[in-house]
Amino acid sequence: MKSFANVTLFLLQSFLFPLYSSSLHQTSPDNSSPFPSDFLFGTSSSAYQYEGAYLTDGKGLNNWDVFSHEKPGDILDGGNGDIAVDQYNRFMEDIQSMNYLGVNSYRFSISWSRVLPKGRLGGINHLGVEHYNRLIDALIRNGITPFVTLNHFDYPQELENRFKSWLSPEMQKEFGYLADTCFKHFGDRVKHWITINEPNQQIILSYLKGIFPPNRCSMPFGNCSQGNSETEPFIAAHNTILAHAKAVQIYQTKYKKEQKGSIGIVVQTSWFEPISDSTADKNAAERAQSFYSNWILDPVVYGKYPKEMVNLLGSALPKFSKKEMKNLKRYKSDFLGINHYTSYFIQDCLISACNSGDGASRSEGFALKLIQKGNISVGEVTDVSWLNIDPKGFRKMLNYLTDRYPNIPMFITENGLGELQKPETTVKELLNDTKRVRYLSGYLDALKTAMRDGANVKGYFAWSLLDNFEWLYGYKLRFGIYHVDYTTLKRTPKQSAYWYKNFIENHMRTRDLADKK
Ligand code: FCB
Repeated sequence: MKSFANVTLFLLQSFLFPLYSSSLHQTSPDNSSPFPSDFLFGTSSSAYQYEGAYLTDGKGLNNWDVFSHEKPGDILDGGNGDIAVDQYNRFMEDIQSMNYLGVNSYRFSISWSRVLPKGRLGGINHLGVEHYNRLIDALIRNGITPFVTLNHFDYPQELENRFKSWLSPEMQKEFGYLADTCFKHFGDRVKHWITINEPNQQIILSYLKGIFPPNRCSMPFGNCSQGNSETEPFIAAHNTILAHAKAVQIYQTKYKKEQKGSIGIVVQTSWFEPISDSTADKNAAERAQSFYSNWILDPVVYGKYPKEMVNLLGSALPKFSKKEMKNLKRYKSDFLGINHYTSYFIQDCLISACNSGDGASRSEGFALKLIQKGNISVGEVTDVSWLNIDPKGFRKMLNYLTDRYPNIPMFITENGLGELQKPETTVKELLNDTKRVRYLSGYLDALKTAMRDGANVKGYFAWSLLDNFEWLYGYKLRFGIYHVDYTTLKRTPKQSAYWYKNFIENHMRTRDLADKK
């Protein structure tokens, strides 16, 4: 239990002196802000996690609707996205919160089955299109740049039933059609497009571990009724990469000249720190990067898979045809979207004796992921097993990406901290989210340092504006800088919202001062 004095202090901080209290946690005002004047500060979200309205206005069922209804036991609280935080109906209120924060951009995703309930062989759902028109228009009216993801984990169930979704090249055509439809209807106003969110993470969870729909895997990776963890992840990833390339090609050839926007892809990144100075562990850390984010980024930027994957996977890794390679290189992404949350220690399992575990298999590059080295942890531990706080890893990650992909700008499309809600957690505790403030402050400092080191970063989106449906954790893992009461759907700013507002204000102030000089 919190003491009375603590609670009083918290109330004073939150409601009387929000800006003062947040500045307590913030680094001193920085007169040489590395953020350029067109830098985007925003928050990030996705359709299934936010919208709700799962059958409203002609929306079709998607893979997550079906999975969460058929297997509620696989989700921590048995929840689903039927209502989520009801942003479908409440986006005006959420835009007011964005205005309050002072953010100049909002990242959201299109629900594929809302726009094309049955994919390209069914018709366009015009009510779905109108919804996104209303949202985009309202954002723009409020001076908020829409940053739109075409696909964030959800797709029409029809595509799973008809041809096994990402396991089939058919999905490239389907995705191309979705992209074309969205460019056509929204591209006059949307100038920042993301094709696919985190294909790497999505595919590992869906086809290697089999815990996300369509729940495909093989032993010992997981317990699924079908699938093959040693081959399917690479087939599915191959199709996402080519689907991305197709969307970029459509944008570059049909729309870009007139619409003048930019298009990129988002990957999940983690910093992989070698657990020792040995060459074997250093090589393993490099392999871990190759089997995770470089898996997607190397083909997107260079038209080929990382050499570590080619060497280890042999025929399990699909090949790009000459034409595909040419197209990958010809139709370039304009930016890379980087989602980043945490770091791991990496131990070699290729030439060293190694325990089994996350990363240790051939399909994951023989690079075991660990959180502890003896009694040293890779970062500040949190109550989320995969999320440790390690801002210096973020700086290293950005420098690594800058070295590997030197000529392409980056956006930080997600970064944030989740808190597990335990039975005894009170709302006051959730609102007084000092750990999240510490997290954001540390990671934004690391971002500044990396930009001074030379990282070409054009924007930062905190995950997330609101608490929301966190996939297998249901509503029990809260990432919002706004608290959501799931009975009333009332949104309330947490300390981190005040902190972020103040951070952005400080940046604007120093920028204005610099402009006047
Ligand atoms: C990312 C997902 C996002 C959210 C955060 C916490 O991997 O892209 O939807 O779940 O993790």
